[in-house]
Amino acid sequence: MNEKGCSREEVLALLAGYRARDCPHSHILSSMCTVPHEIALSAHELFTATNLGDPGLFPGAAEIERMLISELGSLLHGINIGGYATSGGTEANIQAVRIAAKLHPTEKPNIVVPASAHFSFDKTSDLLGVEVRYAPYKKGEYVVDTEAMSHLIDKNTVALAAVAGNTEYGVIDDVPAVAKLAQEHDISCHVDAAFGGLVIPFLKNPAPFDFAVDGVSSVTLDPHKMGMSTIPCGTLLLREPETLKLLSVDSPYLTVKTSFTLTGTRSGADVAGAYAVIRYLGREGFRDVVSGCMENTRRLVSGMEAFGYRKVLEPIMNLAVFEYAEMPEGWKISRTRAGHLRFVMMPHVTRDVVENFLDDLSRMQ
Ligand SMILES: Cc1ncc(COP(=O)(O)O)c(C=O)c1O
Repeated sequence: MNEKGCSREEVLALLAGYRARDCPHSHILSSMCTVPHEIALSAHELFTATNLGDPGLFPGAAEIERMLISELGSLLHGINIGGYATSGGTEANIQAVRIAAKLHPTEKPNIVVPASAHFSFDKTSDLLGVEVRYAPYKKGEYVVDTEAMSHLIDKNTVALAAVAGNTEYGVIDDVPAVAKLAQEHDISCHVDAAFGGLVIPFLKNPAPFDFAVDGVSSVTLDPHKMGMSTIPCGTLLLREPETLKLLSVDSPYLTVKTSFTLTGTRSGADVAGAYAVIRYLGREGFRDVVSGCMENTRRLVSGMEAFGYRKVLEPIMNLAVFEYAEMPEGWKISRTRAGHLRFVMMPHVTRDVVENFLDDLSRMQ
């Protein structure tokens, strides 16, 4: 740190220089985050000084968090759903597994997750000492083979996970089958809908994935992905709100005497941002956003197929995967573990962005 500070203009110019080095969203086709909705930014600004880690000081912000959880819980067909706003899908997955391990105490706990599960389960394993067993895909479908999953369960299994909108292929596991398996073994069933939670409910004929499915104990849903909130905002949603208490530790010097969150200090700003988007758009607005993303996904697929690129799957959600090929420079497109090209068609990937990309691609033909 310098002895003397500098002017506001100097600081902001310095930061603007660094910001200019970041990738422009007009070329990001690989991210599950997006440009925040304008109303999220206004809401964020109102709540920047709030700390949900000490909710007695900020009862207004704390009430918004409760309303956010309740709105998302009812969107996912739950009644009196509990939970809280996390820093993202990683924290929500970790906490869901912590709860499962407390509910089903055993010396050497394990969980069984789809091979497509997000790497946050590896972090969960490392942090909690819970073994993670990966159940393979159904051949060519990228959804978990529940029969294979059943063979990985033993007396130390505390939870099964299903993914609704997986990170690499955007497909939805057979949640009813996974939940049934969990019920048969009297263990928890966690659904990771970090990405899909705000897409699937707005698709035509959505697959069952939420609290409407018997046996689903918890769901991860990230407003900072398709919810267009400011970053970082995830949520952990719990069918049984009291199960959060299993994570409580004493927090004697705060306004509340126990704390169950993984992080301590937590901003209310992104939570207000998430809630603002939900209130502002309503289900109708989200349906429009998702249908726009799906339309752009179909345009990308038809445009690429016209050039001879081969899709790996028919997209179910706003995520398209192709066999590997060289792509035009300057575009940020990621690869799956199997080496496929992965395009995430977030709200910032507008029709213009798709056409610009296809134009660049046409110059490579
Ligand atoms: C299905 C799924 N779960 C969990 C996560 C982790 O979320 P975060 O990066 O917000 O911690 C992601 C991130 O892309 C994801 O796609």
